[in-house]
Amino acid sequence: MEKMWSGRFSASGTKLLDQFNASIMFDRKLYREDIEGSIAHATMLAKQNILTNEELTQIIDGMHQVKTEIESGEFEWKISDEDLHMAIEKRLTALIGDAGKKLHTARSRNDQVAVDFRRYVLRKNLEIVEAIKLLMQEVLVVADKHTETILPGMTHLQHAQPINFAFHLAAYMSMFKRDIERFENSHKRNNVSPLGCAALAGTPHNIDREKTAELLGFESVSVNCLDTVSDRDFALEILFNISTMMMHISRLSEELVMWSSYEFGFVELSDEYSTGSSIMPQKKNPDVPELLRGKTGRVYGALMGLLTVMKGLPLAYNKDTQEDKEGVFDAVETAEISLEILKEAIKTMQVKAHNMKNASKVGHLSATDLADYLVQKCNIPFREAHFITGKAVAKSEELKIDLSDIQLKYLQEIDSRINEDVLKFLSIDNSMNARTSAGGTATVRTKEQLEYFKNYLKDK
Ligand code: ARG
Repeated sequence: MEKMWSGRFSASGTKLLDQFNASIMFDRKLYREDIEGSIAHATMLAKQNILTNEELTQIIDGMHQVKTEIESGEFEWKISDEDLHMAIEKRLTALIGDAGKKLHTARSRNDQVAVDFRRYVLRKNLEIVEAIKLLMQEVLVVADKHTETILPGMTHLQHAQPINFAFHLAAYMSMFKRDIERFENSHKRNNVSPLGCAALAGTPHNIDREKTAELLGFESVSVNCLDTVSDRDFALEILFNISTMMMHISRLSEELVMWSSYEFGFVELSDEYSTGSSIMPQKKNPDVPELLRGKTGRVYGALMGLLTVMKGLPLAYNKDTQEDKEGVFDAVETAEISLEILKEAIKTMQVKAHNMKNASKVGHLSATDLADYLVQKCNIPFREAHFITGKAVAKSEELKIDLSDIQLKYLQEIDSRINEDVLKFLSIDNSMNARTSAGGTATVRTKEQLEYFKNYLKDK
């Protein structure tokens, strides 16, 4: 079977070469982008009188036929056709004859693949944004119910200060909002058309790049062809953006795994999104968040893979670049299913507010409040207040109680300046609600934060 580029060759390549060289097994995923790109290109060629209107009609009809064949599973994908671009053009020519052979005028596979892959990535940027929004909406539903549900806020995984559960969830919403912004920024930056760059240097044909850009929904035309055919920044950016998003998802997953342990008991994942053990009948395993945590690894791998592919490439197109697609496809699919299943797991999980509250009663979470009391009410410098509070914590430990339950007399033994009004400061609820500074955990402030995210999602 003759190759499209076989003119200068006297011997044909081996099967082994075909197998090694081909991308058709994976780039066929881009068939819609490829067909749309070709129709836009042909439409422009006709407008510029490079093709006749009749030829254009033949090409468009032929392409619709090819599309139908692909979608019905009839289309024959052959390794020997190397990639989807050549497979589709070959089939088109078989269907319509000479007009098919004119389609590649003023075009190269180098700008063609750059168009297809870029448009796929641009579309995925927006689809992922929509999926993040749906996740945020579900997180908001849970958060709305828990603006007064107290749990220990931690640093170093040690009990630190009481916070409410909605505040904790709002932290993740902040991360997801930044993720959305990253996908949107990348979409805007990379929304430029490579079509018409041809192999690397442009073309002597009188083409209209603005026209094809417009037909394909690009915002503008790329500035330098040499850069454009070898640029894969858009692919690196979506990989980085998915990596960062998966890092956030992984952190939340880590917490879900911990929270569903007996030791924490803060949440219980629903039966629908948990799994059992093949040997231990009592077990309910948090496989979903564990896998989310685990899948983050393959996404980072794809990012490192493509960065490494790109780092040594001289201008312009090099075949190395063909390695850009599989990692991106895999990362995008991982992101899509991850967002969806995390949303469902959160929607169906049970929040065990009682256990959260109980956990807040250990670890002397209101210690900072005692120090703050000494500063505010007794005019004691913070360093000294910190020391006095340390003594009060030691006393509570000795009494085997939480600082929030200590009797006034013990505090007054430590420092006589302490008055009865201290007791209010020691309560866990008051401690949480005392943090009213901007962005703080107090229920009033948390509600403002939830409002902020609701407005953000509404305005989008
Ligand atoms: N299959 C190739 C890729 O995915 C298409 C571009 C090939 N261009 C070339 N000059 N060999 O990158």
